[in-house]
Amino acid sequence: MNQLSFISFKGFYYTEEQVLKRSKDFYEFMDKRRSLRSFSDKPIDQRVIESIIMSASSAPSGAHKQPWFFSAVSSKKLKSKIKEAAEKEEYENYTGRMSDTWLKDLEPFETNFEKPFLEIAPWLIVVFKKPFDIENGEKKQNYYVNESVGIAVGFLLAAIQNAGLVALTHTPSPMNFLEKLLKRPPNERAYLLIPVGYPPDDALIPDIKRKNLKEVSDFL
Ligand SMILES: Cc1cc2nc3c(=O)[nH]c(=O)nc-3n(C[C@H](O)[C@H](O)[C@H](O)COP(=O)(O)O)c2cc1C
Repeated sequence: MNQLSFISFKGFYYTEEQVLKRSKDFYEFMDKRRSLRSFSDKPIDQRVIESIIMSASSAPSGAHKQPWFFSAVSSKKLKSKIKEAAEKEEYENYTGRMSDTWLKDLEPFETNFEKPFLEIAPWLIVVFKKPFDIENGEKKQNYYVNESVGIAVGFLLAAIQNAGLVALTHTPSPMNFLEKLLKRPPNERAYLLIPVGYPPDDALIPDIKRKNLKEVSDFL
């Protein structure tokens, strides 16, 4: 195995007050993140999407395998094909594949099989996970793939929020149509479909409440 060399870590070294303030400020900022199901068609420079993807790809991963791939789609033709295929799967989901309990849980969100935002949002970021890599025709195992890709998507959503943009974490399952449409190699599985854009002027979002600190944590 190749040995790694070690380099000095450069931290930020804020004061305790700064640490407290920054932690609160970041929470308040992230708490403003919402999933949007409608988007403005205002274009976004590709360089913005590139930085957002690189933020995601800076995430930790099992044995530093970075078992992810991001296909960023702005082509109108491709977005239409994705919308058509996603709606086909979602139609099946809403009219038979989802359980009654699941449909009831979704009712307050007023979602249905139609996904016009997949054509309207300027970018669709399709996230793929890589259970294994192929190097010189050889299969190389990746580790904690779901955890690693989940963390990378968390970084991606935080980067989108930081840029002042909005997104939807979308799962028109099964999502193997994305592997075919985007011509991904056989070691990649579609993980999430994330439209990214500016919010439209008239965006409405469900008035959800989030769990409080006591409900999501304890301190021992
Ligand atoms: C893994 C995952 C899958 C999701 N899939 C969908 C989806 O297919 N369609 C949709 O409208 N929302 C989807 N959502 C969005 C959730 O409904 C949303 O995150 C939740 O209602 C909380 O709202 P918020 O993101 O505005 O805080 C998904 C979220 C996650 C994390």
